[in-house]
Amino acid sequence: MKLAVLVSGRGSNLQALIDACKAEDFPAEIVLVLSNKVGAYGLERAREAGIATTVLNHKDYEDRESFDAAMSEQITAAGAELVCLAGFMRLLSDGFVRSWRDRLINIHPSLLPAYKGLHVHERVIEEGARFSGCTVHFVRPAMDEGPIISQAVVAVHPTDTPDDLAARILEQEHAIYPRAVKYIAEGRVRVSAERVLINEHTVPEGALSNPAS
Ligand code: GRF
Repeated sequence: MKLAVLVSGRGSNLQALIDACKAEDFPAEIVLVLSNKVGAYGLERAREAGIATTVLNHKDYEDRESFDAAMSEQITAAGAELVCLAGFMRLLSDGFVRSWRDRLINIHPSLLPAYKGLHVHERVIEEGARFSGCTVHFVRPAMDEGPIISQAVVAVHPTDTPDDLAARILEQEHAIYPRAVKYIAEGRVRVSAERVLINEHTVPEGALSNPAS
């Protein structure tokens, strides 16, 4: 399966996908890394791996719709069948989300539907949550919403700073994102009534269990 990965920054999840794709039996390859930021370190990672890159500066476009249309064009031209958001810091228009429905996934550093949006780890700690984690989900028009493909749970330690917690969650992100892509590329994932079935199961082995446990 051909993937386009959209990044705005450091691209560590992109790197996890690049590394996973190197395995001979991994059923996907990255055909395009697209960024809205010229200096995104993710672009560097892509170049190093010999992957085609495109930068589209959203400031060059009149509105969100025309920027998203330009992205769609690039993604389609690259032949991508699945779009992976990996720290892409732009809200997407309804039109974009609709045209890539069930072919557009995101990773978010919380156990959705809890803690949508930004500054997740600060809020988790501030509110005294005992557990947090990360989620890979299909994208719907509302931010950080959509059918859940895979999650991992991470305990919050009493002494955690937001950075400590972010780092432990990031490790799990790097495990669950490639695995979710693998399941999709193997054709094992289906959305039914806005729930994800993997191998036709709602609680699939491996997809909801914690990779750390
Ligand atoms: C990750 O924490 C991801 O969950 C969130 O943005 C961050 C991106 O990090 N959506 P990176 O650019 O993949 O290192």
